[in-house]
Amino acid sequence: MAIERTFSILKPDATRRNLTGAINALIEKAGLRIVAQKRVQITRAQAETFYAVHKERPFFGELVETMIGGPVVVQVLEGEDAIRKYRDVLGATDPSKAAPGTIRKEFALSVGENSAHGSDAPETAAIEIAQWFSGNEIVG
Ligand code: PPS
Repeated sequence: MAIERTFSILKPDATRRNLTGAINALIEKAGLRIVAQKRVQITRAQAETFYAVHKERPFFGELVETMIGGPVVVQVLEGEDAIRKYRDVLGATDPSKAAPGTIRKEFALSVGENSAHGSDAPETAAIEIAQWFSGNEIVG
């Protein structure tokens, strides 16, 4: 399996509770390398663009409000099979269905405040990384 990159967001519920380090520890324990990271306040327009694929879903407004409710940490993670591996480390979107030891089981509050986001496919990972990082900010 080739070395891949994926995009991650540590969501406002995680930064509010000072969980960046604890979540990063699970990411690194899984063998993923954090090759770019910055703390940002997402604007409404940026959140609406990022989650545009969900704009017809009933929770879209709540999702946008949740994501602009405080700072986030955006990251690029690198490693073998990184996209699938990070989704495994995240656990199910709904924390009540997430497996023990996953980020969402350990830290998430609800399906909306579920602590972290990870890209779901190589195409979306490339788009999401390009939305938040320039090439020289990523150091592998
Ligand atoms: S998935 O993983 O795409 O299949 O999950 P899905 O259920 O489609 O959810 C997509 C993202 O929407 C968020 N979500 C919500 N946010 C706020 N309120 C409610 N009720 C809600 N339901 C789902 C969910 O956390 C997913 O966010 P990301 O950042 O993509 O993980």
